[in-house]
Amino acid sequence: MAFKDKSVWIIGASSGIGKALAIDMAKAKAKIILSSRNIEELKKVQEECLKLTDYCVSLKLDLEFNGDYSKEVGEVLSHYSTIDYLLLVGGVSQRSYVFETPESIDRKLMEINYFGNVSITKAVLPTMIKQKSGHIVVVSSIAGKFGWPLRSAYSASKHALHGFFESLRAEQVSNNIIVTMAVPGRVLTNISQNALLKDGSKHGKLDSGQEKGISAESCSMQIIAAIKKNKKEVLIGGKEIYMVWIRKFLPFLFYSFAAKSESNK
Ligand SMILES: NC(=O)c1ccc[n+]([C@@H]2O[C@H](COP(=O)([O-])OP(=O)(O)OC[C@H]3O[C@@H](n4cnc5c(N)ncnc54)[C@H](OP(=O)(O)O)[C@@H]3O)[C@@H](O)[C@H]2O)c1
Repeated sequence: MAFKDKSVWIIGASSGIGKALAIDMAKAKAKIILSSRNIEELKKVQEECLKLTDYCVSLKLDLEFNGDYSKEVGEVLSHYSTIDYLLLVGGVSQRSYVFETPESIDRKLMEINYFGNVSITKAVLPTMIKQKSGHIVVVSSIAGKFGWPLRSAYSASKHALHGFFESLRAEQVSNNIIVTMAVPGRVLTNISQNALLKDGSKHGKLDSGQEKGISAESCSMQIIAAIKKNKKEVLIGGKEIYMVWIRKFLPFLFYSFAAKSESNK
């Protein structure tokens, strides 16, 4: 019953983890707003959600726009009078070495994965502060806990999310605004196909590691369990998430794994 009649705005709802979260929120009878760039895909997700809940709308939004999202917030509030949950799921990965990646690609990944989420949060915050309640869920990555070959800007953008949202969490305790950082390892979605290469084109391949990932549905279930428990952070995935602990307690082993990783060939 936790999400029944609660308004849930999901950014990055057209595919993968965001889509699975949308379906689970619909099963829980939430009032859903689906956002991302691809309105055709959003409409398909909306159709699925409306079989499960009475309220679901789609709102086109580009994280790379990085301007003022108050117009979009106004639109959400015109459908539902509150914003109870903001789920920041949208993101793009990377497959290129530092030496070959132009700064324009570094900046693009920062705009989408970091600044876009920061701008949306700043636009939503006055509403949550007025409500004196709200829950912001940020989908980071284990690449937000350590660096990895071919993921320099992606990893940097995810690390930046932790710094920003930990600060926000500390600031907003008195307003009852909760921040949950979801930190997935490998999830079987289109993330590797959509990852950017050095020239900005798409990688277009399902990487072997990705193929072994948990399902988006399982990832969504674990994120929802963490939201219900008001967890500050949750690691989600298979054996790869042990790398977070290896990096912390056996760093020499971590650096050896990272240098020899399959992606570093
Ligand atoms: N899959 C994994 O193994 C994994 C692991 C760790 C973390 N994550 C994180 O999980 C999140 C979801 O990724 P996924 O695995 O579900 O991959 P996905 O299937 O490729 O989904 C990515 C989502 O982000 C949206 N998006 C991308 N660029 C956007 C933009 N400029 N503006 C608005 N929305 C944008 C996409 O929608 P549109 O194309 O319609 O805009 C799509 O809904 C990402 O933040 C990713 O970094 C994934």
